Amino acid sequence: MRLIVVVALVALVSALIGAYFGTISHAQAVPSGKLQRDAQLQVDDWLLGAPSDIERFRRLQQQLSGFDQPMWEIGERWTRLHEALRRENYEFAVFQWWKIEQRIQNAIVKRPQRAANARAMFLGENYERLKAEFESHDPQRAWQAFATARGICQACHVAERSAFVNDQPVFDLAPPADQPAVTDRQ
Ligand code: HEC
Repeated sequence: MRLIVVVALVALVSALIGAYFGTISHAQAVPSGKLQRDAQLQVDDWLLGAPSDIERFRRLQQQLSGFDQPMWEIGERWTRLHEALRRENYEFAVFQWWKIEQRIQNAIVKRPQRAANARAMFLGENYERLKAEFESHDPQRAWQAFATARGICQACHVAERSAFVNDQPVFDLAPPADQPAVTDRQ
C-alpha cells in the first residue's frame, strides 16, 4: 500500500515538473518576430527587443546601409538588363531599367548629397529617353541605349569620386560585336 502511494506521488510530481518545463519550452518555441508579449522576447529579436523606438530606428538605419547596397542591386539588375537584351526580351529590359531608376530614387533619400548628380545624369530626361529606346523593341536602338546608359553610370561614379567601381565585370558587359555603330555617346 505504501509503495502504491509513493509511486503515485512520484508520478504526480514528475507530471507537474513536465507541465512546468513544457510551458517554458513552449514559450521558447515562439519564433522570433511572432511574439505576443514582451515576456516571449527571444535573443534573436534584434529589433523588437530594442529598449526604445529611437534605438529601433537606429538599428534599422544601420541595417539598411547607404548607397552601396542599392548600387549592388543595380549592378545585378544591370546584368539582367544585358541578358534581357541578348534574348530580345524587351519587356524584361524595360522592367529592369524601371527598377534601376526606383533604386536610385531610394538611394538619394539615404544620401541626399548625391541627389544632384543622380538627377542631372540619370533621373528625369535621360531615364525617360532611354526607356523609350528599350520600349522600341528595336535591337539597334536598344543596344545603343545600353551603351549610352553605361556611359552615364560610369560618369556618375567619376563625378561622385567613386571611379574605382567602374573597373569591374558588370561594366565589361557590352553590346554584341555584330551590333553596328553603337557608341558610348550620351
Ligand atoms: C548618383 C550617381 C550614380 C549613378 C547614376 C550610378 N551610380 Fe553606381 N555608384 C555610385 C556611387 C557613389 C557608388 C559607390 C557606393 C558608395 O559610395 O556607397 C556606386 C557604386 C556602384 C557599384 C558597386 C557597389 C558595391 O558595393 O559593390 C555598382 C555595381 C554600381 N554602382 C553600378 C551602377 C550602375 C550599373 C549604374 C547605372 C545603371 C549606376 N551604378 C549608376 C553612384 C552612382
